[in-house]
Amino acid sequence: MGQHLLTIQELTSEEIEKMIHRASYFEQYHPFIRPQFQNRFVANLFLEASTRTRFSFEVAEKRLGTEVLQFQPNISSLTKGESLLDTLKTLESLGAEAAIIRIREEGILQELSRQVSLRIVNAGEGQFSHPTQALLDLFTIKKYFHNLKGLNVAIIGDITHSRVAKSDALLLKKMGANVLLSGPESLMNKSIGDAVLPTEEAIQQADVVIMLRIQFERQESEYLNEKGRYREQYGFTVDRLKHLQPHAIILHPAPVNRGLEMDDEVVDHPQSKIFEQIHNGVWIRMAVIERALGGTGVWETSSNKDASGIGINGFKVIS
Ligand code: CP
Repeated sequence: MGQHLLTIQELTSEEIEKMIHRASYFEQYHPFIRPQFQNRFVANLFLEASTRTRFSFEVAEKRLGTEVLQFQPNISSLTKGESLLDTLKTLESLGAEAAIIRIREEGILQELSRQVSLRIVNAGEGQFSHPTQALLDLFTIKKYFHNLKGLNVAIIGDITHSRVAKSDALLLKKMGANVLLSGPESLMNKSIGDAVLPTEEAIQQADVVIMLRIQFERQESEYLNEKGRYREQYGFTVDRLKHLQPHAIILHPAPVNRGLEMDDEVVDHPQSKIFEQIHNGVWIRMAVIERALGGTGVWETSSNKDASGIGINGFKVIS
């Protein structure tokens, strides 16, 4: 039986570890994996703009062998007044087993998940949550730091409007990290972190720096006409690189406002893992789709005579 993925809160530490483990497996063995979901349909409904999340879900779906239904809101019957619930029931009637949804309104996905049979995966919900981004951020961090207990993660920027900040903070704290926040008072949400620090101090203390985009589309920002002031006070400028510890890594969910929250030299710095995060999104989303479609994800060692599938370095995939 497949499962929804609506928020980070609903995941146990065991489920999180399993998804990270599966993502790691998909990354390592994807050229040899037998597509396990042929003739199964997944619908992607992006009702808000997206590049990374939309395409990484599509790549993940195709790597797993699913048939992908790309919903185009502007030419759909949503424009004739059909509700999202009836849209999902329609897709379900056509055979879709999971719906990947990005939406501006908050709280709707939970409600919809109680009214449909297909599995709902949250691909970004308003300012509230973005669980697959948090999972891919965790996956990326774990490549550099095996143990998150006591790790200092600084989240810097527009915390108020960032669904990524909220999901990241929840997930990282669940895994034992300290979440340090920094940014303008007017864009702060102290309750999600362990401490609020000035930007330079946050960078100095961080093992991981997560920079955030200032989301002008969600606010009447005092910084819209004062971008220089924002960069100077809260941006990760070339000058602030001197505060970064040599072992620390820099992340950003992207898209990046280059020259505003991050200078070009910081985006392209060897300690920046922003494009690696995007790459990792595919493996995490494969794990999420496998879970949504109820894939078993069972492994057996090659010594097991009953195992079918492709032998790889002593393991066989039988799901
Ligand atoms: N990080 C992220 O959600 O990017 P997109 O908006 O391009 O999907």
